Amino acid sequence: MKKKLRSKNKFIPVNVPRIFKEEKVNVKDCMDTGWISSEGSYVKKFESKFAKYNKRSYAIAVSSGTAALEIAIKSLSLKRGDEIIIPTFSIISTVLCVIKFGLKPVLVDSNLNTWNMDVDEVIKKITNRTKAIIVTHIYGFPVDMRKILNIARKRRIRIVEDAAEMIGQTYYNKKCGSFGDISTFSFYANKHITTGEGGMILTNEKKLYQKCKSLRNLCFGDGKNRFNHDDIGWNYRMTNLQAAVGCGQLKNISWIIKRKREIGRRYMSLLRKSKKIHIQPYKLKYSTNIFWVYGVLLKKGIGISRDRVVKKLMNSNIQTRNFFFPMHKQKIFKKMKVFSKNKRFNNADLLSQNGFYLPSGLGISNSEIDYVGKTLLQVLENNI
Ligand SMILES: Cc1ncc(COP(=O)(O)O)c(C=O)c1O
Repeated sequence: MKKKLRSKNKFIPVNVPRIFKEEKVNVKDCMDTGWISSEGSYVKKFESKFAKYNKRSYAIAVSSGTAALEIAIKSLSLKRGDEIIIPTFSIISTVLCVIKFGLKPVLVDSNLNTWNMDVDEVIKKITNRTKAIIVTHIYGFPVDMRKILNIARKRRIRIVEDAAEMIGQTYYNKKCGSFGDISTFSFYANKHITTGEGGMILTNEKKLYQKCKSLRNLCFGDGKNRFNHDDIGWNYRMTNLQAAVGCGQLKNISWIIKRKREIGRRYMSLLRKSKKIHIQPYKLKYSTNIFWVYGVLLKKGIGISRDRVVKKLMNSNIQTRNFFFPMHKQKIFKKMKVFSKNKRFNNADLLSQNGFYLPSGLGISNSEIDYVGKTLLQVLENNI
């Protein structure tokens, strides 16, 4: 007999952020002193603390992770038609920052073990026209990037490291975001630390730093006439209010990472019983899972579709989010003929059709995790 699912009244959102005391104190300080725009001391403080935390020389705080990617790519001064290698299984920002400057995005498929871009395929797709690789870390583990970094060094290919989902994560004990010539982060409300909306760029190269700082701020002239601009830039500044929140969050980063791993382990211990799903391991040789989100991949032929599982969870007041929809299938890029129709990306297709993630924000309680895990097991076992 099919069991009826227990339904709780309390809705469990896919993400609930955690705000600490410091953020409120800092934001009140901005309000009380009137320093609410980007011209405030918290922006510089947040930049220097974030650079120090990641052991990088320079940091530029911006308005989002998408803005960080656009500025980072533009700062590299590449030529129209230059190729940039990116994963197809990612957020659309990864393509936008390439095509907006007339550069050519070259897609690679995913690795089914880590769900990250496939490193061997990255190497295969390098040509004489490849000028940069956006190493994008997805969900829990960093890209196993040694080979990529080696070849990039030899062939003078720029590495843009997108560490939006990996704040505080390490690769062979070194911080993610400290490997790229230039690295980017997001502080959207579902990231390990948040400023509501926001982003950061890190680099060790002074020239890139200066260019990024200028691009963030409309490329105001630095000579006699501030309003005679040096280049085409943006207003992608972060406000003092956002940075005030960021400073408070960063103070708690050790606790945040520890709690994220606890959330991941708790889900793991419940869900590893099911033979119907793939879940990620806790550790790989180069890294411990940081569980930006807790991803679940349904196995083939289990008799229930991803859409049905997700709907059943929603009926039990559990919100989930489907995995990324790959770039080679985006309707806008088909219309614009950005990618060739004939290329296949079977692993990314499989992930995007069968994967979703569970509520994984820092605001979730252990009893909610248990409810979500047990409800998912029930849905899978009963095929209801
Ligand atoms: C890998 C990756 N890069 C970039 C971004 C864009 O960040 P934002 O939403 O702050 O623009 C995201 C957002 O989730 C992301 O996951």
